[in-house]
Amino acid sequence: MSRSGQLNVSRTKDILVPNEYILALHGEFSRWSFDEVSGREHRGEWRKMIGLSADAGLDIELGTGNGLHFAHRAIGFPDRGLVGLELKYKPLIQSIRRAVRGGANNARIVRYNAYLIDHIFGENEVNDVFIHFPDPWEKLKNHKHRMIQDEFLRRLSVVQKPGSFLEFKTDSREYFDWALEKFEKSPYTILEHTFNLHAPENPPAPFMTHFEKLFVRQKLPIHRAYLRSPNKV
Ligand SMILES: C[S@@+](CC[C@H](N)C(=O)[O-])C[C@H]1O[C@@H](n2cnc3c(N)ncnc32)[C@H](O)[C@@H]1O
Repeated sequence: MSRSGQLNVSRTKDILVPNEYILALHGEFSRWSFDEVSGREHRGEWRKMIGLSADAGLDIELGTGNGLHFAHRAIGFPDRGLVGLELKYKPLIQSIRRAVRGGANNARIVRYNAYLIDHIFGENEVNDVFIHFPDPWEKLKNHKHRMIQDEFLRRLSVVQKPGSFLEFKTDSREYFDWALEKFEKSPYTILEHTFNLHAPENPPAPFMTHFEKLFVRQKLPIHRAYLRSPNKV
């Protein structure tokens, strides 16, 4: 509160003129969607929140976009939980709407910066991780905005159970080279990587994300790395 007794809000515009997606987060999809405050309240408790047993798988997708993969994964694996982190309201609602309307009850989504992953998940809480086509931030001065950073991988390795998987895909060769360098320095093990996922000699990919379809249509090669999370002492 300010001295005049007014509530201080950082995003005044959102609160005074909430758009349809903010309304949906707090309304129609409030059982499944969380904002920056409510998302943190379930740290370490996501399985319970979703109604899963303590030994059920709990996977996460960072930057869900319009949720094509998010919904596909949640619907295809009803016995595992899936939590998405997405910064923007519109894709956040598109993702959870697609999953819920497709019949999934095991998906949840949080509006949060994925870089700060350990604010949302506790130690060893997470199984497999999907990072598909994160914004590449190609200009040198913007590299600091990339999701794959040494510190991010350190935070991720704390919340991820040992021996789980991390899938990373991008169309940006420059970002892929950067990410491979970071992965090599990190405690993760690179199990596989390819500079052309859809090359004829590779087995057909089981599923394409929304951005992947766009890039494949433009005949751009897709880069993919598949990693294993580290053991801990
Ligand atoms: C290029 S889109 C890719 C979407 C989807 N994964 C796909 O493959 O179609 C990147 C998405 O990541 C989200 N995003 C970017 N930075 C993020 C961050 N730090 N935390 C959470 N979401 C982020 C963006 O809002 C956007 O929806």
